[in-house]
Amino acid sequence: MGILWSVMLFGFGRGEDGYHCVSLEIRAGSRLACGRGELPSGSQRWPNVLGIGPAKSGSTALAHLLHSVPRVVTGNKTYATGVWEDYPYEVAWLYRPEMVAKGLASYSKYFPPNENAVVFFEKTPKYSAHSLVPYRARTFLSNKLKLVLTTRGLLDLDASLYLYREKLVTYREWFEARVRAHEAWADCRERRFRVITGNTITIESLHDPDYFDWQAASGAEHDLANVCGAVASVDANVTRFRDWISEIFVVWSLRRWTLVFPHEQNFLCIDSDSIKANPEMEQSRIFDFVGLPDQKYVPAAKKVLKATRTPTDRLVDVQIAKGVPEDDVPLLQKALLDWGRARTRCRDVDAFKRVCGYVPSDHDHCSS
Ligand SMILES: *[C@@H]1O[C@H](CO)[C@@H](O)[C@H](O)[C@H]1NC(C)=O
Ligand SMILES: *[C@@H]1O[C@H](CO)[C@@H](O)[C@H](O)[C@H]1NC(C)=O
Repeated sequence: MGILWSVMLFGFGRGEDGYHCVSLEIRAGSRLACGRGELPSGSQRWPNVLGIGPAKSGSTALAHLLHSVPRVVTGNKTYATGVWEDYPYEVAWLYRPEMVAKGLASYSKYFPPNENAVVFFEKTPKYSAHSLVPYRARTFLSNKLKLVLTTRGLLDLDASLYLYREKLVTYREWFEARVRAHEAWADCRERRFRVITGNTITIESLHDPDYFDWQAASGAEHDLANVCGAVASVDANVTRFRDWISEIFVVWSLRRWTLVFPHEQNFLCIDSDSIKANPEMEQSRIFDFVGLPDQKYVPAAKKVLKATRTPTDRLVDVQIAKGVPEDDVPLLQKALLDWGRARTRCRDVDAFKRVCGYVPSDHDHCSS
């Protein structure tokens, strides 16, 4: 079955000796960009460590921590462009086809030169659930690339992102718009996959570990992205921000990442609760993983205040202030878990446990 669609789909994606290509859709038309899977060396600077955690999972805290270490160079948009940026770490090179099109050398200018550097780090929450970023990372950066996934409980993540983003719409509008966008996107992908495979197999087989071939899957994902979009982006008329809901379902996206990067050694998972409870231990896991085993503990610059109110508590307050009934938030949170459970394969959860050794709160819901 897998062989069948591998053959039917796209000979492209394959190249000579270790040369891999990904398709790019830029303004008028599509073209290929090719890379060799390279580690940074000498004057060539691009990530050997990538942060792939979703928004509000602690990925900026991770970037600050790494930035404070002299042998680490973090990506910096301001350094490259001279223009002040609120999120300098988020170069998002792998997210933007127009950057990828310029070739890997164009990544270097975002990393200040540093002769003693051992680690080059970049992160953006946009990397976490994007359907093409893992393939671009595999094409351009080495298969030895180290991936750090910061995680947090699902409901906290969602409430926290809502509180950060939306002041205009209610939590219900935010929830419904994102679910609708995801369902339309998933339907589009299912229909398109049937077309390109001659209606023989379902899209579930795209991520079947027994048949997975990352280059064939890359070809299929690029075709799906050209037709349906690479993410289920929410209509900007409904919410001001286009955050896609799949970003909070880290067990879905890690499945894709672990297929494209099949070695467990590529991954480190850090849960935000654990880093608050055991900062020294979790920091030493991070430093060991990135190749700085001698690095000493870095105390937080500011004392981290123990939050007394959870994101859900604050969310309830914000909704009540908008005139929303008090029980709306718990109802929606239950609906979110049920909706997610129906779309989460137990295989996703098992893969997550295998690679991370834990599942963040509220992620342990699956069906079939
Ligand atoms: C980014 O680069 C600018 C300009 O060189 C510098 O002022 C700033 O401290 C850098 N920030 C980070 C987080 O690297
Ligand atoms: C969004 O709003 C713009 C301007 O008000 C409008 O032209 C467009 O059709 C709207 N899009 C959708 C999908 O409703």
